[in-house]
Amino acid sequence: MNLYKYVSDAINETLGTTVNLEVPRNRDFGDFSTNAAMVMAKSAGKNPRELAAEIAPKLAELDFVADASIAGPGFINIKLKDDFIWQCATKPQSPRTDTPQTIDLDYGAYNVAKSLHIGHLRTSIVGDTFNRIARLLGHKTYSWNHIGDWGKPMALVIAWIERLHPELPYFSDNFTPGIPVDFDIEPSELNKYYPLASSFAKENPEFQAHAQDIKAKFQNGHAGYFALYEKFLAISMKMMQETVSRLNILPFDYDLGERNAAQYLDDVEKILRAKDLIVESDGAQVIIVKRDTDNKPMPPYMWADSRGADTYDSTDLAAVYCRKKIDNPNKIIYFTDLRQGLHFEQLFRACELSEIFDYNNLEHIGYGTINGRDGKPFKTRDGNAAGLDDIIDAVNVAVRERVSESGKTLDEETIRAIALAAVKFNDLMHDVRSDYIFDPASVTSFEGRTGPYILYTAVRLNSVLKRATFDENASYMPLTPDERNLLIGVLDFERTVQSAFDNRATDMIANYTYDLAQDINTFYHNCPILRDDVAPDVRAGRLHIVNVARDTLAMAIDLMGLKIPNEM
Ligand code: ARG
Repeated sequence: MNLYKYVSDAINETLGTTVNLEVPRNRDFGDFSTNAAMVMAKSAGKNPRELAAEIAPKLAELDFVADASIAGPGFINIKLKDDFIWQCATKPQSPRTDTPQTIDLDYGAYNVAKSLHIGHLRTSIVGDTFNRIARLLGHKTYSWNHIGDWGKPMALVIAWIERLHPELPYFSDNFTPGIPVDFDIEPSELNKYYPLASSFAKENPEFQAHAQDIKAKFQNGHAGYFALYEKFLAISMKMMQETVSRLNILPFDYDLGERNAAQYLDDVEKILRAKDLIVESDGAQVIIVKRDTDNKPMPPYMWADSRGADTYDSTDLAAVYCRKKIDNPNKIIYFTDLRQGLHFEQLFRACELSEIFDYNNLEHIGYGTINGRDGKPFKTRDGNAAGLDDIIDAVNVAVRERVSESGKTLDEETIRAIALAAVKFNDLMHDVRSDYIFDPASVTSFEGRTGPYILYTAVRLNSVLKRATFDENASYMPLTPDERNLLIGVLDFERTVQSAFDNRATDMIANYTYDLAQDINTFYHNCPILRDDVAPDVRAGRLHIVNVARDTLAMAIDLMGLKIPNEM
């Protein structure tokens, strides 16, 4: 249960007003504290301490309160009864929302013919964890992998292949679909084409213009280009899946991106034209999204470029239209690099103007950059922009080194699970909006705020439980400070999940997990369990505590998409 909410509601009801309830770091004096008397004293025209002396006895009468004492200028510290904590904590924690919604989540959004890069790490990890949080709360979510499979990169890759193999039949306007073509692309080569073509185009205006023509023709159904595209699309999607699977994220509900959205462009254009929203600007078709109240530049939204080709903008608007039609969500939330903030503001305004979707129910969660130790965007050792595979590989190597230094032998699956936890936890524990430093050596440490530390704690609890059986119905009192601290931590899980959802703050889950792991380890050190001199009822009680702590920790770990190894 959500202990905080329970206590807070009861206090509010008793006092007939909404008070501020704090959870003190140090619980020696109370499990909760409130400044209610200090706030209420003003309107009551009373001295805060005097008022606190009137309020405290009322709170002490609540059936779950053991003690309500006054401190300082009028704070009231509330200590809960042990049996109440015990009863609440020994039931499974299961956060549920009272207001389930249908939510479309747009994350991942990888690109065809481009390998996944470091920027895709955060959208995948944060998006997936947010999805798991929403689902645990009982929301209906649909995850959309809005693949970049329709834009200029496709045309550049086609143009590049044409440059390498002009003899292939794909480039003819009379290509017959379905004819067998003896041509294969080496997967490791494919991802080089786009960067090569793109830098070549910068220096060769002719090639650039040709690529633009290809883009327009391709989007208008050129059979040869399309056949070639389908060939590299399949290879690219397979490579994408392989990399993504290393992150252990839930399967996407839809792997449908720009190309899928493009089918809806005609419908959307009708809506836009009917509302007179498309205007001509320098040969392009745009939607003016600027408002009189803007004090920052707000460029027009690009509906079609000067060659009439579809754009990132137009397919994104069409994607909203499509989602509305298919899922009819209450909200759509996008997870991308925060540098796309302007694009999304424009998109949301275009949705509002066209009445395709309610502006207030569109959200963009923009995340910061992953930097190296030098504070600049993380690069591989050879100085190249890091790919997602490079990051995961580097962390696997670091884990393997650390494990062998410690003299342990762990199998590859365990190494992978530790590396996964190291990468994901480190990402999740930072506020999404801020940049962070990525250092394979520090994220793999088994101590401190790291994924391996969290896993280690879970493995430790599992190993205790493997060695003993416990009585489901044990009741155990009184609780030691470390025991009650841990159980109160367990009882903060539901509130944390709810707040993480409400605040779109996946870091709350990661940091909660770390605090819980610390409470677990303190308890573990100070409260012997299986030792011979421990009395049977104490052992039974503590095993019960271990069990609920393990279950809660495992739920939190699952929200982050980590895997608990058998040993560490
Ligand atoms: N494919 C884009 C990228 O890699 C992100 C797409 C995000 N989603 C969207 N609906 N625009 O940068």
